[in-house]
Amino acid sequence: MPKKTPRSLAANRARLSHKAAYALRNPARVVPYLRRALRDRWLRIKHPDHVDYYRAVMASDTAANPEAAVGSRSHDRWLALGQMQFDFLLEHGLQKEHRMLDIGCGNLRAGWRFIQYLDSGNYYGIDISPDILIAAKKTLAGYELQEKLPHLTLTHDLTFDFLPSGHFDVVHAHSVFSHSPIEVIDECLAHVGRILTPRGFFDFTFDRTEGAEHQVLREDFYYRTETLTALAEKHGLTARFMDDWEKLPHGQSKIRVTAAEAPAPVAD
Ligand SMILES: C[S@@+](CC[C@H](N)C(=O)[O-])C[C@H]1O[C@@H](n2cnc3c(N)ncnc32)[C@H](O)[C@@H]1O
Repeated sequence: MPKKTPRSLAANRARLSHKAAYALRNPARVVPYLRRALRDRWLRIKHPDHVDYYRAVMASDTAANPEAAVGSRSHDRWLALGQMQFDFLLEHGLQKEHRMLDIGCGNLRAGWRFIQYLDSGNYYGIDISPDILIAAKKTLAGYELQEKLPHLTLTHDLTFDFLPSGHFDVVHAHSVFSHSPIEVIDECLAHVGRILTPRGFFDFTFDRTEGAEHQVLREDFYYRTETLTALAEKHGLTARFMDDWEKLPHGQSKIRVTAAEAPAPVAD
């Protein structure tokens, strides 16, 4: 994944001029993009609700290739992206005895590493897509992690109404808000504080823009940092931009959210 540059952070990918310039630079991508645009238009007509729509996108993408469905072009990239998430979280506070909620766990690209590391029963993965959760079970079996007894649960919303209060030390959402309209993020931030332990934290990635906020095909959403930190603060949380994540070769940015009164995280 390319590193962020001032130019990429200012780009508005929804603009026709951006699309035309991109098409000229990448002619081989025009036909796949048009196919995707047609499919997405049809799925949006069938599923006006965003979560229903994105679930249908995941069904279609997972049927073709579960690793590509979570955003990895090759198995090596799938492994590398999981390792990057795992290493970062380990360096930034994750401990074996922690209880972790992985929102939008996908096919356990990083999840299998968290499951392997954490004490048994302490990993909880949720996702809106039944198809990717079936792929997640295959990943789990492939790495012979059955004894770790992780929870893998289908969800439709991010109210966490089925989860206990004050339970999770770590909540994590990698490459989920990059596919979410602001209402979904708002719902998540409105409810995540209830399920976090007092010292717990919630790390999420997002596609950052320093220009106008925009979306492409209702699949990819670009937000300004201050929009998301203000939303967290509206819900009584403290939000911090993770500068360390910017050093990694990843196209998204990361924010850490804690309860407003939580003590400062130990490691950074
Ligand atoms: C790009 S994949 C990333 C998967 C995983 N986090 C990883 O890094 O491999 C995004 C995942 O988030 C899920 N997802 C999208 N919107 C969601 C939502 N509102 N709630 C829960 N999961 C969601 C998708 O079904 C998909 O599995």
